[in-house]
Amino acid sequence: MHKSLEKNLPFLIEEFSSSGTPIDNRWRSILQRFFSDCTLTPTSIPISKCLINDRHNVLEVPSILLKHGYILNSSNTRFNNDDIDLANSLLKLTKQFITIEEAFEKGATEERQRIARDLHDDVAARMLTLIHSVKDEQTIALSRSILKSLRNSIYTLDNKSTASILDAITDVRSEIQVRLNSIGMQLIWHQSENLQGLSFTPRQHINLNRMLHEITTNIIRHANAQFMEIIINLDDQQISVEVSDNGQGFDLQNCIPGKGLNNIKTRAQELNGSASWFNLNDPKTGENRGSCVRINFLISDNTESPK
Ligand SMILES: Nc1ncnc2c1ncn2[C@@H]1O[C@H](COP(=O)(O)OP(=O)(O)O)[C@@H](O)[C@H]1O
Ligand SMILES: [Mg+2]
Repeated sequence: MHKSLEKNLPFLIEEFSSSGTPIDNRWRSILQRFFSDCTLTPTSIPISKCLINDRHNVLEVPSILLKHGYILNSSNTRFNNDDIDLANSLLKLTKQFITIEEAFEKGATEERQRIARDLHDDVAARMLTLIHSVKDEQTIALSRSILKSLRNSIYTLDNKSTASILDAITDVRSEIQVRLNSIGMQLIWHQSENLQGLSFTPRQHINLNRMLHEITTNIIRHANAQFMEIIINLDDQQISVEVSDNGQGFDLQNCIPGKGLNNIKTRAQELNGSASWFNLNDPKTGENRGSCVRINFLISDNTESPK
């Protein structure tokens, strides 16, 4: 009654590679795929090994984390020993895969920490020496901004530290303000009241900063606008950042996205979110009034740790 292993190898590889999905969910879809004509029900008690009942219409299988189990129920065919063998092989394969995944994650974490240490102790320290040894103001400013980006990258490498959302957006706001001031453009800023006490992961923090940096660069370079407006809202764990300008807009269908737009999209997707662009039109005349980009992503419910 089951499907063969060889035919479903691409499916298995696909399941094993979806590392963002909890392992028991992946195990469940593997069982559903191989025993597609059966109903699958989770049990509240753990099941330690694969077993068939006396009437051969129920196959019990363990879950990966052993907190519960699964019951496969067949209404038209009878389970036999081949089904037990297949369930056992799949279970073994999935467990072996998890061991590899855990080892990989551990190795990656250690390597990230090593790179962060080297960057901090070596490269950042040398940058500081450089800043102290040069006299020219422009070079000092440039070196400081390189050092700042470097510190941001070091901080992203450490998965655990979090940043207060309020601090993060205050920083990014002042950075954009300085850039727009220098060319005489106006910044209009709105943020919702409910951001207090929440935090970004380093990845969310860095990605949002870099997306806003590129959006600002694009507005400065391409829009020919007088102002830029940013609206930040939080609704049901969903952060939305809307950036608009009153410039010339652009042909969204026919524009060739460069690295900038693509990177913004990739960074939003990396946060399991999205970035989309649209033109703003006057509701009466239909005339172009600039462009807008909307970024959305979910923040987890991690409250700011006390300082
Ligand atoms: N705010 C904007 N106003 C007008 N045009 C824009 C705006 N943002 C992006 N564009 C257009 O989209 C194109 C692609 O942007 P991007 O991918 O950042 O590449 P680049 O900035 O290197 O040209 C730009 O060349 C420009 O034509
Ligand atoms: Mg660009």
